[in-house]
Amino acid sequence: MTLTVSINNDRRLQLAPLQIPTRLLLGPGPSNAHPAVLQAMNTPPVGHLDPAFLALMDEIQTLLRYVWQTENSHTIAVSGTGTAAMEATIANSVEPGDVVLVGVMGYFGNRLVDMAGRYGADVRSISKPWGEVFSLDELRTAMATHRPAILALVHAETSTGARQPLEGVGDLCREFNCLLLVDTVTSLGGVPIFLDEWGVDLAYSCSQKGLGCPPGASPFTMSPRAAEKLQQRRHKVANWYLDMTLLSKYWGSDRIYHHTAPINLYYALREALRLIAEEGLENCWQRHQKNAEYLWQGLEDLELTLHVPREFRLPTLTTVRIPEGVDGKAISRQLLSEYNIEIGGGLGELAGKVWRVGLMGFNSRPESVDRLLEVLRQVLPK
Ligand SMILES: Cc1ncc(COP(=O)(O)O)c(C=O)c1O
Repeated sequence: MTLTVSINNDRRLQLAPLQIPTRLLLGPGPSNAHPAVLQAMNTPPVGHLDPAFLALMDEIQTLLRYVWQTENSHTIAVSGTGTAAMEATIANSVEPGDVVLVGVMGYFGNRLVDMAGRYGADVRSISKPWGEVFSLDELRTAMATHRPAILALVHAETSTGARQPLEGVGDLCREFNCLLLVDTVTSLGGVPIFLDEWGVDLAYSCSQKGLGCPPGASPFTMSPRAAEKLQQRRHKVANWYLDMTLLSKYWGSDRIYHHTAPINLYYALREALRLIAEEGLENCWQRHQKNAEYLWQGLEDLELTLHVPREFRLPTLTTVRIPEGVDGKAISRQLLSEYNIEIGGGLGELAGKVWRVGLMGFNSRPESVDRLLEVLRQVLPK
């Protein structure tokens, strides 16, 4: 039944019951959530201080430590999308005047630059052409030049499909008495990550990619070194909602109300993480790698060129160069409207030059690859 709603006297809104098409989400995110995750989300909400919910929060913390391979006690899910968790890392670690060095190799590095500046950081940046990554030597030279309090890097740059190697970077940061902050939004669950082994001090992610959950509850973690800096701050954290000194009283043993948690999203996140634990983290990483390689082979068989060299290519997100003479936007539009498949276009420097294909979480399956390749074979000019 369609409902007519009047707004003022002159505007009328025709409201049919909700009808959203079912899509295969093979873009940069969100990816399709696992059916069991959607089912968990349907569980009736309890209160945000209900003992059953508090127990679920504890489980989320433990499972997040597992997927990140960390023992950080300050490991929580922020109520918000990946950008909120990104802002939580910046807000809790940056004090006005701190030198923050950002490695920019794509769109999300630039977001870190903008965000750190808004919290009063003295931001310095180094950059790479989109699709390339920093070597340890390049990072060492930049650290020696800028002597930052924080080095911020994007592990999986979704705008380019490149994976920034992190081995050795934590040691470098300790040598320079600096914190290491890492964006793992497009890597968590799909790409091997060893936060403690790599010496990462602050990290954030999202729920809607490798974890296979809807967006809205985003992982955040902070090492004891970062927690110590937080304790010794001269100024209060400038963002009340994301202040870990307050949030940890809700997530920790005090259990003091801070904000009303998005209960059903936390049910979903808990189920998504449980499914990864059931599969086994290493198996989950291997599945992502195997399906990505299957995709790469299929794309190359179609004579398409992949933008990032194999060594640094993300299994979760593949950038494919749009061939000369092909209207990339028209192809993406056709995939969506005729085949219900979403893929992404290029951002920034790569706008109009690449498509972005995501194989993340539940969608990292041979069936997704087969479907996409079958459709591309039909729509691409011979
Ligand atoms: C690398 C990276 N960082 C941060 C974000 C922001 O996350 P969200 O869109 O969930 O706020 C994204 C989103 O795609 C991302 O890919």
